[in-house]
Amino acid sequence: MNIQKRMLEAIEEELQRQVARLDQPRTKRFHEMLTYHMGWTGEGAGAEATGKRIRPLLVLLSAASFGLVDEGEVGKEIGYYWLHAKSAAAAIELIHNFSLVHDDIQDNSDKRRGRNTVWVNWGAPMAINVGDALFVIANQAILDLAEYYPSEVVVKVAGILNNSCLDLTRGQFLDMSYEERNNLGIDDYWPMVGGKTSALLAACTQIGALLGNAGEAEREACRLFGWHLGLAFQVQDDILGIWGDEAITGKSAASDLVEGKNSLPVLYGLGKQGKFAERWAQGPIKSDEVKTVAKLLEDEGGKKYAEEISIKETQKALEYLDRANLRGEAGESIRQLANMLLKRKQ
Ligand code: IPE
Ligand code: IPE
Ligand code: MG
Ligand code: MG
Repeated sequence: MNIQKRMLEAIEEELQRQVARLDQPRTKRFHEMLTYHMGWTGEGAGAEATGKRIRPLLVLLSAASFGLVDEGEVGKEIGYYWLHAKSAAAAIELIHNFSLVHDDIQDNSDKRRGRNTVWVNWGAPMAINVGDALFVIANQAILDLAEYYPSEVVVKVAGILNNSCLDLTRGQFLDMSYEERNNLGIDDYWPMVGGKTSALLAACTQIGALLGNAGEAEREACRLFGWHLGLAFQVQDDILGIWGDEAITGKSAASDLVEGKNSLPVLYGLGKQGKFAERWAQGPIKSDEVKTVAKLLEDEGGKKYAEEISIKETQKALEYLDRANLRGEAGESIRQLANMLLKRKQ
């Protein structure tokens, strides 16, 4: 089995162990709401419903890339460091999932990973509570690191993770408040995306490097790798949010335009001041107009522009990856993952 597969299995097991904290007799239904969202139970449960788990993979791959003791160990299956980092990997995936449960309420999205969102099944008040539980379990998971790491390291990891959560809420604030604005430019885009998406991806690679005992320069290069990967990742998400195939993304393709999201292709289109900008200025896009409006935006270059930016940001990410000097099978695997994400349709 290759390293990614072994890691994905360990991640799933650790996630289930962490979420089981909530499994108590009186609140079975509450626990089920969490296991439903995580993709393990309920209608449509299974591999498709769990999401890609790229964040915990990035944590473990970064840790493993430094965890190889010396040249002689390269390529050998020692797996020592990465398994010890599993509760940090799970914590980040739980934070990500908390943000998705709340984001789907905030964005009024009814589909996620091909299934009903939590708020559609149980209502927004319950969904808020599900998100809260995931957030708290994530913070408990971090403390489990103390089994293998000294307290100073655990506190450092918790600090990085909590800072990235704060950045995430700031990014979400910008994302939502931008829906009311009609005077935005591309410069307004990057602080939003940096907050809502890149901060957590940067935390993954930074924490991974820290737990793999990397040096300071390598840790910083790793953080910047995750940061730029996050920017590329969100731009790709914006493209899929307008032109993606719902059957593959598992999310409604219409919702970004209908919700009036100022995604990168939209901001580019507005700057062109052509037919797309004219239509956008006239008020909300209705569901039955989405195809026509998406075509207008594509014809005016919005899709091509975003694709170019996504490639550029991935290249920047890969440059930092080179500087981080990741080693062994895990190092190679992380490079493949970065390239794969650029081509993703999901
Ligand atoms: C979706 O993230 C939210 C964004 C930050 C774009 P993912 O595409 O990683 O979602 P899952 O976990 O694989 O479903
Ligand atoms: C992604 O938000 C970031 C967070 C969930 C914090 P989006 O709203 O852009 O992502 P999707 O498209 O719903 O997954
Ligand atoms: Mg959102
Ligand atoms: Mg959303």
